[in-house]
Amino acid sequence: MAEGLVDLRSDTVTRPTPGMRRAMAEAEVGDDVYAEDPTVRALEERTAELFGHEAALFVPSGTMGNQIGMRLVCEPGQEVLCDADAHVVTYEMGAAAAVFGISTRTVVSDRGLLDADQLIAQVRPKGDWHLTSTAAVAVENTHNRGFGRVQPLGELQRLWDWSRGAGVAVHLDGARIWNAHVASGVPLETYGKLADTVSVCFSKGLGTPVGSVLVGSAERIATGRLWRKRLGGGMRQVGVLAAACLYALDHNLARLAEDHEHAQLLAKRLGVDPSSVETNMVVLDGVEAPLVAEAAKAKGVLVSQVSPSRIRLVTHLDVDRAGIDRAADVLAELLDR
Ligand SMILES: Cc1ncc(COP(=O)(O)O)c(C=O)c1O
Repeated sequence: MAEGLVDLRSDTVTRPTPGMRRAMAEAEVGDDVYAEDPTVRALEERTAELFGHEAALFVPSGTMGNQIGMRLVCEPGQEVLCDADAHVVTYEMGAAAAVFGISTRTVVSDRGLLDADQLIAQVRPKGDWHLTSTAAVAVENTHNRGFGRVQPLGELQRLWDWSRGAGVAVHLDGARIWNAHVASGVPLETYGKLADTVSVCFSKGLGTPVGSVLVGSAERIATGRLWRKRLGGGMRQVGVLAAACLYALDHNLARLAEDHEHAQLLAKRLGVDPSSVETNMVVLDGVEAPLVAEAAKAKGVLVSQVSPSRIRLVTHLDVDRAGIDRAADVLAELLDR
């Protein structure tokens, strides 16, 4: 972060720490397109095990993880059902349609909150000559546009139990599943076992410069490997990147609790209901977002404008307690709170 700036725009702005850089520099590497990079293989094996699946695939981005993940459970001409604010349909440039010929259909949710019955009611059966069949449901946890909302375990379980009988797959966009795990105490494996394919990111709260992993069955991941190559995501000596991810699992996972505490502090200082802040995101509603963002920037605090009247603050490992206090002072003064 530029000297003196408190950057709360996103948890993607983190930069690798000296320890992480050392781990990257020292990584053992090989050609990963030949599946010969030992560090990538170690990361894939560890991530698959963490989520209770057979296999995993290192991919350059969460977008690629989600899109390949959905393709593995949905054929062209079928549909994936999800909520209208899901990252997979909001921020991934229509990739499901543009790249894979997959239709998406959405339901409007309460700030991204998963309502299993609402989704189940919309599922269209296979084998009907008139209907686009629903092959999969995509769930996001935590929910980005739901401002870090943690999905209720009971709803995830309900959806999963239903999906087994219905022959509908579940894809989990777990870009921030780490935050959900730390906030709820639900084991990663429990979340993993409630989905057929799971995409997780290391480049958000875990603080790596790049890297996501897609997990699933051995058969699906073998097919995913082909898709990754087709999309130009076959990478060579990327053990240097996988090493950052392994380092993040060892050093940056448990500390997410600190980011969540920082978000609570910001909420309290800025008059936001702390119970609406479940992980590392705080939303300021009813503000003149462009004016506030500009004025805050002039005082060294960067925030995201998510609408003309809404600002989002995201806590992460590059903002310590002093930075949080400074941001709170600046924003409290600007907003008169
Ligand atoms: C919920 C969620 N899923 C997926 C992604 C995509 O990750 P990437 O930017 O690595 O493609 C993001 C990115 O912020 C995200 O917030």
